Amino acid sequence: MPKAIPSTPATASLPVDASSSLWSRLSSWAADNKAVAYTIGAVVVVVTGAGVVYYLNQTGDVKKLGQFPVPDSPTERAADGSARKKKKKTKKPKKEDAEKPADGAASKAAPPPPPTIEVEDELPEITEASVTQFTQEERKTYAGKLKGLGNDAYNKKNYDEAIKLYTQAILCKPDPIYYSNRAACYNAQSNWSAVIEDTTAAIALNPEYVKALNRRANAYEQTEEYSKALLDYTASCILEQFRNDNAAASVERLLKIVAETKGRKMLEGKPKRLPSPTFVTNYLQSFREKPAPEGLEDATDENTGDYYLNKGLQDIKLKTAQSYEEAAQAFEKALELGVSDQYQAFAYNMRGTFKYLKGDGADALQDVTKSIELDPNMTQSYIKRASMVLETGDKDGAEDDFNRAIAVNPEDPDIYYHRAQLHFITLEYSEAARDYQKSIDLDRDFIYSHIQLGVTQYKQGSVASSFATFRRCQKNFDKSPDVYNYYGELLLDQNKYEEAIEKFNTAIDMEKAVRPMGMNVLPLINKALAVFQSHQNYQEAEKLCKTALILDPDCDIAIATLAQLLLQQGRVSEALEYFEKAADLARTEPEIVNALSYAEATRTQLEVQEKYPQLAARMSMAGAASAAAAAGMGMPR
Ligand SMILES: *[C@@H]1O[C@H](CO)[C@@H](O)[C@H](O)[C@H]1NC(C)=O
Ligand SMILES: *[C@@H]1O[C@H](CO)[C@@H](O)[C@H](O)[C@H]1NC(C)=O
Repeated sequence: MPKAIPSTPATASLPVDASSSLWSRLSSWAADNKAVAYTIGAVVVVVTGAGVVYYLNQTGDVKKLGQFPVPDSPTERAADGSARKKKKKTKKPKKEDAEKPADGAASKAAPPPPPTIEVEDELPEITEASVTQFTQEERKTYAGKLKGLGNDAYNKKNYDEAIKLYTQAILCKPDPIYYSNRAACYNAQSNWSAVIEDTTAAIALNPEYVKALNRRANAYEQTEEYSKALLDYTASCILEQFRNDNAAASVERLLKIVAETKGRKMLEGKPKRLPSPTFVTNYLQSFREKPAPEGLEDATDENTGDYYLNKGLQDIKLKTAQSYEEAAQAFEKALELGVSDQYQAFAYNMRGTFKYLKGDGADALQDVTKSIELDPNMTQSYIKRASMVLETGDKDGAEDDFNRAIAVNPEDPDIYYHRAQLHFITLEYSEAARDYQKSIDLDRDFIYSHIQLGVTQYKQGSVASSFATFRRCQKNFDKSPDVYNYYGELLLDQNKYEEAIEKFNTAIDMEKAVRPMGMNVLPLINKALAVFQSHQNYQEAEKLCKTALILDPDCDIAIATLAQLLLQQGRVSEALEYFEKAADLARTEPEIVNALSYAEATRTQLEVQEKYPQLAARMSMAGAASAAAAAGMGMPR
């Protein structure tokens, strides 16, 4: 199984560069998820790379918890899972928590303790009944001695004996350390329910007992109670102010497990649906517009597949959520009824396209392959298949299809444009620039080749030539809102806020004029980022995102941006709602898992705050102290 190609955010305004601003890093999820698709106007690949989880408190301070990988494919994830288990086993002996009781245990190098029997003889018999006879002072003394003996027994791996001694110590004096130490014995015996019981008792006595929390978390993980394990590790991380790398790594691991488990369940019951019209439009317009196959417009008999094929094409032109859904149904219906021979390849191509958009990669691949069989001259089918196989991580397969397409028609500018996208995504910028240029040479009228060339030049570090490209575009394509939108993104990345906002405003006005029904909401979201970054204007940023959502309720990039705006303001429960909504809208498993990771991280943070109100207070104090340092700088782990 080839490794999936890591995605790179193509959006200038959404870099995942760790050294860039706080907000940009927060936005990396959106970037990871969809920026490629949106920016370059084609869903070439929506392979999610790594997500970054941030924890926030009321003052807006951010704690980065680290990165967690998102599964590339179910097969790979399975392989991953077994690898993870193995690793855990070999690591275990080194784990301090599992090996040593929490406190007061002598190290192995320490001199051997006096013979146990002798000391034990000095102690009276300790039972629930006898203990009541002793004074407080006596109980304390005996408890201390018993604990010492228990530690000795533990170090000799005499766990049953140690358990007995700690149990007696607890009878003398309920102490969180004794419970936690006894839990360490149960831990060594893999008696998870007993570990959970004892650590819970320890935590009840001392809610900030990090060692007990970690130990209970491990037991929950062993018993596959992942959400509970995640909660404990998160609390532990916050208590130690994210200084414990082990706990932080555990949070990442658990987040991944919880998100994957939930994600798979979600996917099972999920009907396949189209993404937002913004997404669909961007994909469809990544191919040059072609006239409908000859004669198809005359198909008026509603009982024929040809009629539905034509209907689907008409539906697409409206660019709304409903019309795209109707188009998808029309193409299904067309092939159900059967179309005339000359339209067959085209019909499979279109049905495959919409299946692909719905996230049904396997069926989509079948359809375009069928289309290629029926008409080996249809270059577009090769190009679409290349995107599909690239999404599964098969870069060579994608290249093969581009080469086949070129063999059929070396003059088709679409081939070079899409091959350029492949290069762009795999960070091969000079190859990408060459292919965009070739596509432009073959057809100067396709705006996205120019825009994308400009973005590529920017990525290559040629800011001047990039801006020159955009200025030329502005002149030559004065009716295209996209030019202004992407130009604005580059300006935003240069921190030229006012100029960027001006471009976004122009793009918004043009969008309204050109497609009032199916407006592309990207400029609205970009403007939200700009007003937030330049003036910390949460209210307006939020309003812009909400406007975008009224126009395109399923726009996941708007939802992601809004969720992060809310999180940034410490409005955690509202943020959670949007993260969940994003998961609900996601089409593919990696997307769902990624969104759920954020939802779960947010939910867990909320739960920790509820369970440990004293922690929440401390977090905001720590936040106030470091908020200034946090802004724009690398955050401490
Ligand atoms: C685990 O510990 C509890 C409490 O001591 C005990 O009752 C139970 O039998 C143990 N379970 C196993 C599987 O050893
Ligand atoms: C494909 O194009 C070639 C050359 O233009 C032509 O000879 C062949 O018949 C075409 N094949 C189909 C299936 O249309």
